[in-house]
Amino acid sequence: SSPKTTLLIDAEDVGSVERVAALLKAGEVAAFPTETVYGLGANARDGKAVARIYEAKGRPSFNPLIVHVASLEAAEEIATFDPLSRRFAEAFWPGALTLVLPLKDTAGISSLVTAGLDTIALRVPAHPLARRLIETSGLAIAAPSANRSGRVSPTTAAHVMADLDGRIAAVLDGGSTRIGVESTIVAVTGDDVRLLRHGGVSRGDLEAIAGRPIIADQPVVDDAAPISPGLLTSHYAPKARVRLNADDVRADEAYLGFGPVASEIGSQAAAFESLSERGDPAEAAANLFAALRRLDRPGIAAIAVAPIPQEGLGEAINDRLARAAAPRS
Ligand code: TXA
Ligand code: MG
Repeated sequence: SSPKTTLLIDAEDVGSVERVAALLKAGEVAAFPTETVYGLGANARDGKAVARIYEAKGRPSFNPLIVHVASLEAAEEIATFDPLSRRFAEAFWPGALTLVLPLKDTAGISSLVTAGLDTIALRVPAHPLARRLIETSGLAIAAPSANRSGRVSPTTAAHVMADLDGRIAAVLDGGSTRIGVESTIVAVTGDDVRLLRHGGVSRGDLEAIAGRPIIADQPVVDDAAPISPGLLTSHYAPKARVRLNADDVRADEAYLGFGPVASEIGSQAAAFESLSERGDPAEAAANLFAALRRLDRPGIAAIAVAPIPQEGLGEAINDRLARAAAPRS
């Protein structure tokens, strides 16, 4: 498609949200901040607009999108809630939880959003700009992460521009995102709670509401027909190789550290970023994608990554890092 001028709109500017809302209503795609990562939004009921998301991202069309709405009430117009999903929504919305639910056939959502599935992924975001954009436009907004397909998700407007400048209508710049990893995706089917993607709401938080252990879904993943394409083996990938659980660095390696001892190893590395000096998984999650982007540069053969404990958001961080380290196809 023809290159376009991508407007970088400062959220502080008067009328910024209204401008982006008008673009979305006109069938354009525009990126906006959520509390997890930046999303690439389009009107979920406009098939042509949704097609532009796939085109801009270079995303395989089988990969369904998350729809962002203002409230549980708005979500109930689109999907059917079982009692446990409703409890999750009441506990975590607005917030970093996406629920996969049976789609109502009266919802009017483009089948490109669901990639033809009879379920839909829904989320009520907490970021004030995302909320204002949904309310001002009056739309249900389909929005995957605002990166080129297979790349690391964007946590700043500059990351979005680096991937999508000239391919989308606008980016609403609201600064760095607070959580820094994508939402947790959950599907309840009968008695079965499936954790489809680790993310901003930890497994422990979900278990506290469900009142029972929740096992992460570990299906045999067929990359050609994934259950949840967040489960693609190689995903969230920087260009440099990624070496996990590193307690040293080699020549040409950058070092991604965690905890108070990281700077010692980091001082020997070709480049160094600390995820959290005080060893806080939430702070590390917020820094993860920006740090990977900064370390992923010419001359760096690999990024050696310190071990991250599997606590709280540590599960989501380790999930993204395992994908970044997976063999590339
Ligand atoms: O935090 C987030 O979730 C961000 C912000 C923008 O909301 N969005 C995001 O979207 O990460 P995306 O498209 O990069 O990831 C959406 C994930 C994909 O793994 C997709 O396969 C899964 O949601 N998904 C969407 N609809 C689904 C469905 N009906 N069943 C199972 N998985 C679904
Ligand atoms: Mg994504």
